[in-house]
Amino acid sequence: MTLTIRPAEPERLPDFAGVVDGIDLREPISAQTAAAIGAGMDKFAVLIFHDQHINDEQQLAFSRHFGPLEQANADIRRPEDRRLASEVADISNLNRNNEIMSRDDRRRLFSLGNMLWHSDSSFKPTPAKYSLLHARIIPGKGGNTEFADMRAAYDNLDDETREMCRDLVCMHSQIYSRGTLGFSEWTEDELARNQPVPQRLVRRHPGSGRRSLFLSAHAGEIVGWPMPEARAFLRDLNEHATQRRFVFAQEWRVGDLVMWDNRCMMHRARRYNPGEVRELHRTTVADSAPTLAQAA
Ligand code: OGA
Ligand code: MN
Repeated sequence: MTLTIRPAEPERLPDFAGVVDGIDLREPISAQTAAAIGAGMDKFAVLIFHDQHINDEQQLAFSRHFGPLEQANADIRRPEDRRLASEVADISNLNRNNEIMSRDDRRRLFSLGNMLWHSDSSFKPTPAKYSLLHARIIPGKGGNTEFADMRAAYDNLDDETREMCRDLVCMHSQIYSRGTLGFSEWTEDELARNQPVPQRLVRRHPGSGRRSLFLSAHAGEIVGWPMPEARAFLRDLNEHATQRRFVFAQEWRVGDLVMWDNRCMMHRARRYNPGEVRELHRTTVADSAPTLAQAA
């Protein structure tokens, strides 16, 4: 089998969202194959692997080629509620007993934050590099995941706005992002674990050299700016950055694995019938350093 990568939508998005063929993720991969996938990520920022019927161990083994993994501890499930291993994030509407969570289940309401455009773990001092999301059970309709290309968003800013963004630092917190949905009751422990962290607004991708906007639903302040002005500006940037022309929509099939680069991308979950099961498993590769410690 030879590895090939082609754009999913060649006319509309020639360098965003690639489809990978010629690989079976149930088998170990060589360092050379991992490097080819890394190069594909540098170009396309989202890669789609169809028909990969893998288990968590196989997903973990593949993910580890790209760096150290994050612990999946950013949600509000208690350790005794968890269904999956500590490095596998449970992106499902199921509880510990594999039943659909009730409509007002606090863990479900927290997870609806994934419907806001965001970058994974931008609320952690060192945010995420790659996320790898694998589809296990998919509802009959809806429940797409959308990806917005923050490189294209940056490239298409007007000169004046690009200059305004250049040296800005935003504060990111899950307390803020969930708060915009009206989720505002936190335990002392959750508050303590979710203090805002600073992140650069403009990043330079080490693999491609391209600059991008590091936006996320978690960004609720700009350091040194009055709050209303900061929030109005961030809203404006988000509106610009999530125009349809920068967006790729993943329509899931069971067995799809989608890998994306959180350093230059936002994504969000779309609505589906909450009476149906939707189950995906996510592994997350950590970035190497806080964004302020990285070259601009
Ligand atoms: C995630 C996420 C979106 C979705 O797994 O990080 O935001 O569609 N998921 O479930
Ligand atoms: Mn996410």
